[in-house]
Amino acid sequence: MFDRLQQKWKVNGLQLALILCTFAIGGSLTGYAGRRLMPLLGIEQDWLWIIVYIIVVTLLWPLAVLLVSIPFGQFRFFVKYLKKIGKRMGLTGREKSGVGSRESGVTPATSNLKPQTSEPCRIAIFASGAGSNAQKIIEHFRYSKKARVTLIVCNKPGAAVLSIAAAEHISVLLIEKEKFSNGNGYAEELKENGIDLIVLAGFLWKIPAALIKAFPHRIINIHPALLPGYGGKGMYGLHVHQTVIDNKEKESGISIHYVDEVYDHGQIIFQAKCPLLQHETAESLAQRIHKLEHEHYPRIIERLIESNGPF
Ligand code: GAR
Repeated sequence: MFDRLQQKWKVNGLQLALILCTFAIGGSLTGYAGRRLMPLLGIEQDWLWIIVYIIVVTLLWPLAVLLVSIPFGQFRFFVKYLKKIGKRMGLTGREKSGVGSRESGVTPATSNLKPQTSEPCRIAIFASGAGSNAQKIIEHFRYSKKARVTLIVCNKPGAAVLSIAAAEHISVLLIEKEKFSNGNGYAEELKENGIDLIVLAGFLWKIPAALIKAFPHRIINIHPALLPGYGGKGMYGLHVHQTVIDNKEKESGISIHYVDEVYDHGQIIFQAKCPLLQHETAESLAQRIHKLEHEHYPRIIERLIESNGPF
């Protein structure tokens, strides 16, 4: 339950503890202040007293919580939280939809992720391996109103990512080479599924031009090295890490980029670096690179959706 709250509110464990304390103390303070105020109103303790007490407590509660949030260092969180509640209750401006949607248009002229409705952005993850990135992205958006992973696209019937899809109750589209590369790249099926954004996470087939045309600036990839230096043919898995080590590089990293017709070539969205350690092996580097990927990929996808991409 606490994990869910952390993900929903996008806070760490300490922040969550402080927020829960703020709620508890703010709630008690509200009750206390309410009971002290009621006698001043001089109302008899009948049904009217109950109604007035509920109104008083409802008005006091946000103030008490805000007050308590200051010493707990969570003022900004609660201001945002109260604004959100206000918007939901129609007390303040309409809630910003700020995310991609099915209706957002896929023609090149409107190739952004701008929402026309408040529906979450529907993400298809293309993955054919272990699926650790897919897992992190699914978790990141599990309770999000902005986006949801709604489809896993895979070209390997036995791939571990398929078990993740099954465990997460996410639909799977198994694709085959001929139709993917020489057909329309399954663009129709993706459109039928209302996909807004395609996220490659360990998918090694080249993306055909037809699919890029159908999803302009809506296909992104993560590469386990720094582009443009370490991309292209053969630069995948342990090979890429071994090449980086053999070249005696001082650092490696990850690259998140848009996908275009050339392998590992599209515009770079984000890069993060890590130094190469003494006695580094392809395996040890791969592990650290994976950690970097898990840390940044879901976050960057969210930023892309929020900023209405491309950014
Ligand atoms: C990731 O390291 C990703 O960068 C890489 O495949 C791995 C998939 O791991 N992708 C490429 O090499 C693409 N050129 P995962 O299945 O555990 O997410």
